[in-house]
Amino acid sequence: MIVNGGHSQFADLLKNSEGNLSSLLSLFSDSLIFIFDSEGRFTFGHGGSDFRLHLSPDNFIGKGVPDILPSDVSDAFEKVFEENLHGKVAEFSCWLDTETHTGWFNATCSPIYRNGIFDGSLAIVRSASNERKSTKVPRKSEENYRGLPSDVPVGVFRSDREGKGTLLAANPMMATMFGCDSPGELLRKNTESLYADADSRKSFLSKMESGRIVENYETLMRRRDGSEFWTSISAKYSTPDDKEESGLIDGIITDISDSRLHADNLQKNLNSLKRTIEGTVSAMSLLVGMKDPYTSGHQKGVALLACAIGQEMGLNEETIDCLRIASTLHDLGKLNIPLEILNKPGSLNKFEIDFLRTHPKAGYDILKTVEFPWPIAEVIHQHHERQDGSGYPRGLKDDEIMMEARIIAVADVVDAVASRRPYRASKGINVALEVIREGAGTVFDKEVVNSCLGLFYEKKFTLVDHGS
Ligand SMILES: [Fe+2]
Repeated sequence: MIVNGGHSQFADLLKNSEGNLSSLLSLFSDSLIFIFDSEGRFTFGHGGSDFRLHLSPDNFIGKGVPDILPSDVSDAFEKVFEENLHGKVAEFSCWLDTETHTGWFNATCSPIYRNGIFDGSLAIVRSASNERKSTKVPRKSEENYRGLPSDVPVGVFRSDREGKGTLLAANPMMATMFGCDSPGELLRKNTESLYADADSRKSFLSKMESGRIVENYETLMRRRDGSEFWTSISAKYSTPDDKEESGLIDGIITDISDSRLHADNLQKNLNSLKRTIEGTVSAMSLLVGMKDPYTSGHQKGVALLACAIGQEMGLNEETIDCLRIASTLHDLGKLNIPLEILNKPGSLNKFEIDFLRTHPKAGYDILKTVEFPWPIAEVIHQHHERQDGSGYPRGLKDDEIMMEARIIAVADVVDAVASRRPYRASKGINVALEVIREGAGTVFDKEVVNSCLGLFYEKKFTLVDHGS
């Protein structure tokens, strides 16, 4: 069954060449193929000969996944579509009820680019239960492959898997992709010569051997003029006329240079953004140090310990980045507090305590309009909150306090108690660790405290002596 609508140039191309398209799509008799436009709406649907869909085209063309499929499927699709938007191929599994088959399916979604601009997604959906089952594939002559439409932006090929692998069939797009004038120019070449790196073909064949099917194998290929380009190959062993494997490989190949370039540019932008943020944070930290060297050193000490606790807890890289930035700036609001209060040797009176306790909110106010990729201002706002609600400024409790703030709370106390001050000597790391041990489960998060104790007792973590 082939259905399509008019929402994507790609779908239009398919529509215009539907006669030849059946040759191409017959390679995917065991698959459902869908194409989505850049808004995530269906523009094309194909159920292979093994599958028929319940829905007629009118039921889904032009509609979004949430309009016709259950929320678990649409939620999963939304995530992979987001990945596609960022140039990445992504997969998900879902339970589908087709006219001929009900069960788990695996969907692979690849971004489609036109003139370097994201134009939608191509989804190949296969049953998870019969991946290795032979499926009926009509015998195809080389002429059929030559007749495949030239404007479908995927190359389709059949090759011999033995030796260096002779290319037996290819569609016009495959020839264009490799800089050849026609498929004939490409045929009878050794597929090994198309790879930029011969070892990459060996790795591809090894994956074929172990899984019988390979999806989205990314490799660098070489055009006729010697230039190289990134491709993604999906292939399986050919089983013509439902007989045993024929020693041939059928596959599709996509030029993913645009998506690789897009991903590279995104990574460059991200790295540049990270450098800008680190520079800004460093400048702010310098500003704190100009007023109060102790607070500046304390923030650096807390950052090292908080990140180590986060890693000990197995938190992801993004959370660790948030911890590092928030810790380095967590007492930024003390810029607002007079040094006479910050470094007062004796105990503080009520007015001074109340004034000192404004610093988390002051830090929050300074940073709340800065668009960090992490909730830095909010973490700083919460770093003196305590699990039992005894903290300040808002008396938050338990899960109301973000994990990053719970970690900084513990690291803050350990560093503060163990540090030397102008008016007193260090109380020592053992006293500091005893303070957090006593507070575990009441004022401090128990898991955070245990991770911190493990760092010092088992992994011999040491604090940086930032003095006074
Ligand atoms: Fe603080």
